[in-house]
Amino acid sequence: MSGILNAQNLEWRERAREVAEKVVRPLAAKYDRAQEYPWEIKEAIAKAGLMGAWIPKEYGGAGGGVLDLCICVEELSRACGGVGVLYAVNALGTFPVLVGGTEEQKHRWLTPIAKGEKLISFGLSEKYAGSDAASLHATAVKEGDSYVLNGEKKWNTNGGAADIYTIFAVTDPNSKSRRISAIMVEKGTPGFRIGKVEDKMGIRCVPVVEIHFDDCRVPAKNILGETPGVGFKHAMMTLDKARPGVAAQAVGLAQGALEYAMVYAGHREQFGAPISSFQMIQGMLADMATRVEAARNLVYVAAMAVDSGAPNVSKLSAMCKLFATDTAMEVTTNAVQIFGGYGYMNDYPIEKYMRDAKITQIYEGTNQVQRMVVARSLVKESLSLKHLLGYIPKEVQRGVNDPETLARKAAQQPDTVGAE
Ligand code: CAA
Repeated sequence: MSGILNAQNLEWRERAREVAEKVVRPLAAKYDRAQEYPWEIKEAIAKAGLMGAWIPKEYGGAGGGVLDLCICVEELSRACGGVGVLYAVNALGTFPVLVGGTEEQKHRWLTPIAKGEKLISFGLSEKYAGSDAASLHATAVKEGDSYVLNGEKKWNTNGGAADIYTIFAVTDPNSKSRRISAIMVEKGTPGFRIGKVEDKMGIRCVPVVEIHFDDCRVPAKNILGETPGVGFKHAMMTLDKARPGVAAQAVGLAQGALEYAMVYAGHREQFGAPISSFQMIQGMLADMATRVEAARNLVYVAAMAVDSGAPNVSKLSAMCKLFATDTAMEVTTNAVQIFGGYGYMNDYPIEKYMRDAKITQIYEGTNQVQRMVVARSLVKESLSLKHLLGYIPKEVQRGVNDPETLARKAAQQPDTVGAE
């Protein structure tokens, strides 16, 4: 599907596809088994200039947008879902800087990422603050011209490999709306420690770790925007920009699994014919391809909306994450089904797609949270649609809301005028 993509988007697709086919696909199984960060793949991604795709030119990037980012993530994920997120998570870490950083902070933190010299990670979640992100506990206390961090972070994708960490911590425990701030922390700062390294079902080439802060002192100028208290808002704005990236990872995984299933079905013979000649398999493939195409279009439209600064991107961003990741789970599961018993074996490439797909329904907000974001937005929109009530018949029931009953109820109401 390239009808809505422009020449720049297509160029990113070609570049990312080349890295995916030449470097990522041949190494995907190796790093999945080893559960090791694939530095050689990261180098190839950086060499192809993909690291700065979404970063503005003035900060050393290529000046593309979220759509270009999504296209790159999709192509990398088509070959390996782990590599897709290994790349995309750098965008997640930089978005708070783009959303809320000062000019000086943008130059300082974005340029080394754009050039592929450094990696970045995003630290919002904690053991007891997942979907309810605002309930996080880690603290950052101002002492002179420093902030002193204490506490723990959970689910840090890229943790350990990354040089820079965008950390969300409580700076004002007494405030309801200005409790949290985003602070940039560099690996190696005394008091910063990588803890448990998770052993995962999928996306095994990218590390997911716990981070511990024990009196970790960072310069006060590392607080984003140099203004405390706006961290939660910036985290939410970041997720609005980043969720299409997870959705693109899901589209890539679904497309990659579909392609393997198509090829396998064309070659696997049973009952004297390729299984792709059987209508049940054809129906599965047709449904899989249709869903992938629908998901891709929704991702591109959401990414374009983010890039154009359209209002209410939260809804579209959540919708594309929700739809694309549910699609990825369904399509990768059906791809395993088409491979039959072989699909379940880990010397075949297909079961990895299913394992990699599962996390996309969970991270950067579970799909239950995405439904909540969409539903909240619908409730707000419904307020501007009140004129439609005029077209919906209102039922009248005697004893409940007929004119006499309403008049009687009104007469029985206590006089509240002046009650306060
Ligand atoms: N943009 C700007 N501001 C926003 C916003 C948005 N999209 N969403 C909320 N806000 C603001 C609200 O306006 C409100 O501001 P005021 O206090 O000034 O009124 C404030 O933020 C609080 O908003 P809510 O009351 O809506 O917040 P909530 O506590 O009910 O939470 C939520 C809403 C949608 C559930 C949110 O907590 C959420 O998205 N949770 C999921 C967290 C998540 O996605 N975590 C992912 C971690 S990253 C990860 O997974 C990385 C990885 O491994 C790759």
